Amino acid sequence: MSRVEDLADAADENTVLVMAILGSTFTCRYYDIERLDALVGAKNAAHPGWRLGIHVDAASGGFLAPFASPDLRWDFRLDNVVSIQSSGHKHGQCLAGVGWVLFRTPDLLPRSLIFADAYLGAAQTTLTLNFSKSATGLVNQVYNCLRLGRAGYTSLAFHMYRSAGLLRGGSWWWWWWWWFYFYFFRWP
Ligand SMILES: Cc1ncc(COP(=O)(O)O)c(C=O)c1O
Repeated sequence: MSRVEDLADAADENTVLVMAILGSTFTCRYYDIERLDALVGAKNAAHPGWRLGIHVDAASGGFLAPFASPDLRWDFRLDNVVSIQSSGHKHGQCLAGVGWVLFRTPDLLPRSLIFADAYLGAAQTTLTLNFSKSATGLVNQVYNCLRLGRAGYTSLAFHMYRSAGLLRGGSWWWWWWWWFYFYFFRWP
């Protein structure tokens, strides 16, 4: 994994933004985004006119960190984080294909990407080109948020972290239970 110092060092006047991962694909490890924010802030301060921003790829961590580590600062609490994306279909517990992107301010989403028209009597704006798209994923996510709430997602995150810790750390009694389970219940 890249060190955040390397990311900040590599940025120059041609850099659009720096991307940091909250939850790497294989280990769910988090980049130190608060440290990256400080480095990017220092770089912007040293170069008047620069507005180097940070995009946080929270595909895996976006539905874990707010619940398991609410004091961890990786989001819009940091000055230079301009956008965040997360996969609802991972730890958001939704159907495949649900994902979210949040921009810090509306001006960060170029108007040229937004398609506006009046259809069936109402004005609508969309980022996509197709009209008839299933809203199942969206409904699924809203349902989960209402059904589970902060307490439910916190509980899920806690149990996922605990399972991951057991698998990684390999406490002896855990392996014993695993062996027992497969020997008696899973093997023919
Ligand atoms: C760090 C990271 N970013 C992006 C993605 C892609 O996310 P999605 O499948 O929601 O497009 C993944 C998927 O595994 C990921 O782990």
